[in-house]
Amino acid sequence: MRIALTGPTGQLGTDFCAALGAAVIPLSRPDFDLTDDVAIRYCLDAAQPDLVVNTAAYNLVDRAEDEPELAFRVNSLGPRTLATWCADRSIPLVHFSSDYVFGLDVDRLVPYSEEDAPGPLSVYAASKLQGEYFVRSLCPQHFVIRTCGLFGIAAVRGAGKGNFIETMLRLGTARDELTVVNDQHCTPTSTADLVSATIELIQTSQFGLYHATNSGATTWCEFATETLRRSGLTTPVRPVSSDQFGAKARRPGYSVLNSGKLESAIGRPMPGWQNALERYLDERTRVQQPESRAAN
Ligand SMILES: NC(=O)c1ccc[n+]([C@@H]2O[C@H](COP(=O)([O-])OP(=O)(O)OC[C@H]3O[C@@H](n4cnc5c(N)ncnc54)[C@H](OP(=O)(O)O)[C@@H]3O)[C@@H](O)[C@H]2O)c1
Repeated sequence: MRIALTGPTGQLGTDFCAALGAAVIPLSRPDFDLTDDVAIRYCLDAAQPDLVVNTAAYNLVDRAEDEPELAFRVNSLGPRTLATWCADRSIPLVHFSSDYVFGLDVDRLVPYSEEDAPGPLSVYAASKLQGEYFVRSLCPQHFVIRTCGLFGIAAVRGAGKGNFIETMLRLGTARDELTVVNDQHCTPTSTADLVSATIELIQTSQFGLYHATNSGATTWCEFATETLRRSGLTTPVRPVSSDQFGAKARRPGYSVLNSGKLESAIGRPMPGWQNALERYLDERTRVQQPESRAAN
């Protein structure tokens, strides 16, 4: 099988490359750019894939408020071209979206299912939602997978926009105290676990919209506290509200996803977020050991 993979340098893309090996045809910049329709079609024509997996995205949530056109070109119009190319050839397309398509329901306290109406609060979220709609409406053989707060080992080497764990470990070492929001409830998710679940899902050929996160729920403040504790850092973490933190883009107060549909399809739940965090930190130590030996 030939699998064209966009975003092979990102967190999720790196783990797909590791899991799928020689089957992957990586599509990366500068040759492949999601803002360039001609380049997308040229690269896909050359790759002749049996399956397209789109992990590439514009993920800078706050900056997107100032760059809406770019966010929509990458997250919405690029996926539209992928979807039409795949549909014309009856090829399946796997596309990733975000828990941030929810948030408008400020009283929400129950995990969102695929049937719940979205309500994006930011430019990034709206661009991801429109990308979903294009893929779902234009490409019948689609897997659209909403996930949340990704952390993948590629971020240790600076891949993509990085991840929350790396930011907390960096700031936890550099500062006397961290301030982290405690009013955003969600489920940070391991890209390694997401790749395993996605590969199992693809094999079912049960196309559609899916929620896929690690099990359980937490807040960014609790996640930061657990990350530092499990890493042996004693830097205090001070909880603040989203209003006090003052990020440019609005984020959901509650965006926990119900992954029950995925669990039924693949016959198992994804591991809990604490377990995923522990494995990430172990892997991080392994990845960094050869680097520190080489530096000495
Ligand atoms: N990260 C999260 O917390 C999170 C949460 C929910 C959903 N998601 C979704 O999950 C998917 C994977 O995210 P991730 O964390 O793996 O992302 P990531 O680490 O930030 O990587 C993004 C990838 O997209 C590529 N890319 C960006 N703009 C591009 C363009 N114009 N043309 C072609 N490639 C481009 C980047 O390439 P370069 O190396 O060239 O920059 C990089 O390979 C995305 O759909 C994202 O929206 C992520």
